[in-house]
Amino acid sequence: MGPSSIMGGPGASASLGPEAEVKDWLKDVLQGRPWWMNVLMIFSAYMAFIYVPWDFFVKPVAEDHEVWFGITFTGVWAKWLAIPHEIVYAGAFYGFLRRRPWMAVWGPLYLAQVTIAMAVWPILHEGGGRGWVMGAVAGVPFAALTFAFWNARAHFLQTDRALTERYGEWALVTGASAGIGAAFARALAREGLNVVVTARRRDRLEALASEIEADHPVRTRVVDVDLTAPEGPEQLLDAVQDLPIGVLINNAGFGYGGRFEKVEAERLKGMVNLNCLAPSVLTHRLLPRMLHRHRGAIVFTGSVAGRQPLPLHGLYSATKGFDSLLAEALYVETRGTGVDVLVLEPGTTATEFQEVAGEIQHGGESPEAVVEVALTALGQQPTVISGWWNWLRAVVPARLSPRSLVAFIARHVMEVRMPADRR
Ligand SMILES: NC(=O)c1ccc[n+]([C@@H]2O[C@H](COP(=O)([O-])OP(=O)(O)OC[C@H]3O[C@@H](n4cnc5c(N)ncnc54)[C@H](OP(=O)(O)O)[C@@H]3O)[C@@H](O)[C@H]2O)c1
Repeated sequence: MGPSSIMGGPGASASLGPEAEVKDWLKDVLQGRPWWMNVLMIFSAYMAFIYVPWDFFVKPVAEDHEVWFGITFTGVWAKWLAIPHEIVYAGAFYGFLRRRPWMAVWGPLYLAQVTIAMAVWPILHEGGGRGWVMGAVAGVPFAALTFAFWNARAHFLQTDRALTERYGEWALVTGASAGIGAAFARALAREGLNVVVTARRRDRLEALASEIEADHPVRTRVVDVDLTAPEGPEQLLDAVQDLPIGVLINNAGFGYGGRFEKVEAERLKGMVNLNCLAPSVLTHRLLPRMLHRHRGAIVFTGSVAGRQPLPLHGLYSATKGFDSLLAEALYVETRGTGVDVLVLEPGTTATEFQEVAGEIQHGGESPEAVVEVALTALGQQPTVISGWWNWLRAVVPARLSPRSLVAFIARHVMEVRMPADRR
């Protein structure tokens, strides 16, 4: 495959070139905020990645000074206060970039603090009438910015547009009989969506459907199907063909751990069918209808395991890498169409997963928390890792150290989780 075939497919625009692609990417990064908020975001990035690190590591202690709430700190105090400054600016950059709901309150509060600092500093340093005038002049623009931010806080509040309005009335959740899938089904019903719940264990699905209908004014449909079977996805699609599916949650999946030569070939094949083939077929069939309606959402449940080679879970991590790459590509293909694509990458989550995978039990995040992360990120970004600790563990080593070293570390972690006869 040559570079031109990587850069553009049949649907790609004719005017592709490096500038066009960077422009598209920038448009995607900057969309959804007023221009002045984008300026604040870029300023926060400058402070977090250039100014504060320079201030902390390069500037001599004797020359250092920091202003907090209008009070000037110097020397060692100023040096150490660069750390909370870094947290503030890195947090602001992240909050702007991902349009996190807490920014709706945090942004105006931070700007109010700057307003006070700008007003108080001249009063303390200049004193007298001149100090008060300078304080007022310096404080007014920031007070105006605080006011503007408060008025524009809806940019950070997804709740202002209901999921039903954004995506449609019906959701299809695969792997809904347990764990993350059941949590997705409950959360979507809470948001007012009718839900098709599917997996193999019909009794579990019926219990969940009854619970959902008792708790929320929505409808449900139960479809029991084995998605490892090659005809499984088509059977599922036949069972929902009369419904306008607006949200597809490609969640069903399992892991199967152990040294590659020790595990059963049939189960490996089933895992590829369930984790890769089924979401591909379902997405391929449901996406055109969403595009036709100009609205829809497709979520893939990937895993942090898909970010690196994972010895003793090699094929599982490969299937999850598949999900992530497919979802991230579809995110770009569907920008501007009204359809949002997201890959949710959970870390260890407390579900039946570990038992099914044959791992020694080791706890994990709650599936509800994982689902909340996904629904908050949907429409904001192509991929989300649930939990900052998982983000640190999955992203930082992969970016800073050789891939093979990460694989050796991962093997060590997996050996602890795997029973002796499978290592
Ligand atoms: N738990 C974790 O630590 C973790 C971490 C990262 C990613 N994930 C991913 O999260 C997703 C959900 O897993 P989970 O943690 O919620 O595990 P879980 O509790 O074991 O749930 C898996 C779901 O998939 C369904 N499923 C399994 N085999 C199926 C088949 N052949 N046909 C149709 N449905 C099938 C199961 O239902 P039936 O058995 O009734 O068919 C169940 O509803 C998976 O894609 C997994 O890879 C999990």
